Amino acid sequence: RTPIILDTDPGIDDAVAIAAALFAPQLDVKLITTVAGNVSVEKTTRNALQLMHFWQKDIPVAQGAATPLVRKLRDAAYVHGESGMEGYAFVEHSRKPLDMPAFEAIYRCLYSSDEPVTLVTIGPLTNIALLLMQYPDSKTKIKRLVMMGGSAGRGNFTPTAEFNIAIDPEAAARVFDSGLDIVMCGLDVTNQAMLSPDYLQQLPQLNRTAKMLHALFSHYRSGSMATGLRMHDLCAIAWLIKPELFRMQPCFVAVETHGEYTAGTTVVDIENRYQQQANAQVALDLDVPAFRAWVADVLALAP
Ligand code: BDR
Ligand code: CA
Repeated sequence: RTPIILDTDPGIDDAVAIAAALFAPQLDVKLITTVAGNVSVEKTTRNALQLMHFWQKDIPVAQGAATPLVRKLRDAAYVHGESGMEGYAFVEHSRKPLDMPAFEAIYRCLYSSDEPVTLVTIGPLTNIALLLMQYPDSKTKIKRLVMMGGSAGRGNFTPTAEFNIAIDPEAAARVFDSGLDIVMCGLDVTNQAMLSPDYLQQLPQLNRTAKMLHALFSHYRSGSMATGLRMHDLCAIAWLIKPELFRMQPCFVAVETHGEYTAGTTVVDIENRYQQQANAQVALDLDVPAFRAWVADVLALAP
């Protein structure tokens, strides 16, 4: 099983990605870290702990950065609801996050593992930038970083920037400049990663997990229940398990940090115009029917 650390801002599509990561037999989730993004970090941490409680899992959760490195947080409560996971009444519990910040927990987890660990990020990259600043040596312990973020084309937060990168462009720029082996699953594939209305309709009958996710979906504004919902974050998990579903291209990717209108844009040099060395493998196309079949398989494994 591939050991992973999952950095997340749950988040409705994050919840689906977490379910897949936990129940796919190929992955071993060592640690979950939270970051401010879709909603505040207090809320994303609360949501992550609620999910652990829902599944009775004892994977440690560490709370991460409350704000982007230099900018003010702009959230996406308009997509995920006020709580970040609106639509399901989770039961109360007394679970707490670890007593250390996310970057510290990631560092310790990396150093306690016998083999290099894969970082999977499905929120803004603030925690990873903090890790790289604080512990530059940790790079040798990271197998690769698989992210949901960015776009080679248009954006979904500004005209050209994707949400996770737009929220903390300075952090993203540090990550792309780090020399880590980066896999970028951006909107080019995640906009295609739609669950069909027919499948969505069957979810409540599948199992308790699918029932819960279906309840969240009634509040999720990335597509519609009638035309299909985009599972952005699930693509990062899908890549880990079924990379053959993605058409990849090694590219140089720069993150714009200065532009008045373009901050947070991932400039993906598909034609190699800058003649720079590639710093990421970029997912450019997705086998949608095969992706949907995999989603159905993995969610059927959940309780
Ligand atoms: C990303 O933005 C968030 O709202 C989603 O959870 C996903 O990580 C998509 O742009
Ligand atoms: Ca997310």
